[in-house]
Amino acid sequence: MVVKKICGIGAGYVGGPTCSVIALKCPDIQVTVVDVNHEKIAQWNSEKLPIYEPGLDEVVEKCRGRNLFFSTDMRLAIQEADLIFISVNTPTKTFGNGQGRAADLKYVENTARIIAEVATEDKIVVEKSTVPVRAAESILHILRANHKPGVSFQILSNPEFLAEGTAIENLVNPDRVLIGGHDSPEGRAAIEQLAQVYEHWISREKIFTTNTWSSELSKLAANAFLAQRISSINSLSAVCEVTGADVSEVASAIGLDSRIGSKFLQASVGFGGSCFQKDLLNLVYICECLNLPQVAAYWQQVIDMNEYQKSRFSTKVIVSLFNTVTDKHIAILGFAFKKNTGDTRDSPAIYVAKSLLDEGAVLHIYDPKVQEALIMDNLMACSDSHVKNRIHVYQDAYSAVENTHALVLCTEWDEFIELDYEKIYSQMTKPAYIFDGRKILDHTRLQNIGFIVQTIGKRLNRIPVSRTWGSSTQL
Ligand code: NAI
Repeated sequence: MVVKKICGIGAGYVGGPTCSVIALKCPDIQVTVVDVNHEKIAQWNSEKLPIYEPGLDEVVEKCRGRNLFFSTDMRLAIQEADLIFISVNTPTKTFGNGQGRAADLKYVENTARIIAEVATEDKIVVEKSTVPVRAAESILHILRANHKPGVSFQILSNPEFLAEGTAIENLVNPDRVLIGGHDSPEGRAAIEQLAQVYEHWISREKIFTTNTWSSELSKLAANAFLAQRISSINSLSAVCEVTGADVSEVASAIGLDSRIGSKFLQASVGFGGSCFQKDLLNLVYICECLNLPQVAAYWQQVIDMNEYQKSRFSTKVIVSLFNTVTDKHIAILGFAFKKNTGDTRDSPAIYVAKSLLDEGAVLHIYDPKVQEALIMDNLMACSDSHVKNRIHVYQDAYSAVENTHALVLCTEWDEFIELDYEKIYSQMTKPAYIFDGRKILDHTRLQNIGFIVQTIGKRLNRIPVSRTWGSSTQL
């Protein structure tokens, strides 16, 4: 069988862009993306898509209404499809067994139940969501216990490796596509059918097939390794700050070793996003359940180091501002968890902002792509209602920094590099502080303007500037 119709369940950060690129690259396949969230589907059908991703608007515009459809009619889309991607969220459980660590598979399970109920013909069901290893077994169990007579299912694992902010680029030109399936004639046939979809634009050598469990575990492993690199370089940033070494120099020096490589060695305020922490917690939980406490403790430390890094940075801001930020106005530039996305899930900016609010600060927040309502939702979620008066959201960086004591840079948006810092300095209360949580600014230049600058993984000596004498002396 050749796949002619695809249904993508879950129109989020993964399901939306993934299905859009499949539609772009496979004009002969009809792709329908469905979601329980009616508002989100309405946005996918409008001019203003529910997520920001560079290049996404163009892809959707080209395909929508041609062979790409967004719908809330999940039953019809499932019934018609030969192949179904499950791209629903798999958040950390917030209660019950495994609370705070295990992945909550309730959305995946709901999806499996609907597929079983609706399907009247054979289907290939593809796990695209990140799931615990052996989740396919549970899905198959549900499908087989509820299916209609004569209908059979093949389950494949096809984890998604895209990164938000570069999703379209990653989907169009991935490092690899991983497909895991059952080692049986039917399983191998299903793998082949999915591989043929990808072969519309990806060469066969990049399509890597494994057994189902290896594929499921590889996604958790990939995120664990990526997060571990960030925590490793961040741990060294603390050593640099005490010793006078510069973490950027250390990262460059070790990155030149081809066994280590230079990517993912940027020290920062810490990692965020909806995946790294969730997937690490899930891996830790799985290891504990498998009675592998040493392995669990090893990966737990990657999360602990990230918490330490966020807390070290917030403390640095407070201590530098004479150990009190009560009633001080502080600008937070960047609220998304990284540049080129409007996603704030687990953003380090939330941690920093909350720490400052707890100390009584008044926050002026600006992010190029995060709406005011989302910023407020994040900060009000665990705060008293009275802090609302101490949170102000601005539509541009210059308005945000006006009359503030400090500027705290939390997201590495390119536009923050290009700002006119002379102008910003003139608008701020003195002494004016900059805390660069992403290491993207020209610190020497900022010091020459007059700012007191603090960053990650480097001790910056204060350079007093004498505009009259035209020279600066290092203390
Ligand atoms: P998301 O929260 O943006 O989207 C999930 C969507 O699924 C939501 O719109 C929700 O309404 C919908 N949904 C939930 N239950 C449903 C149901 N029963 N029927 C129909 N729709 C339903 O989540 P996101 O970020 O797209 O992640 C999805 C999965 O992909 C997760 O397992 C995540 O770990 C994984 N992943 C995420 C990446 C990312 O960068 N966000 C990258 C790679 C994997």
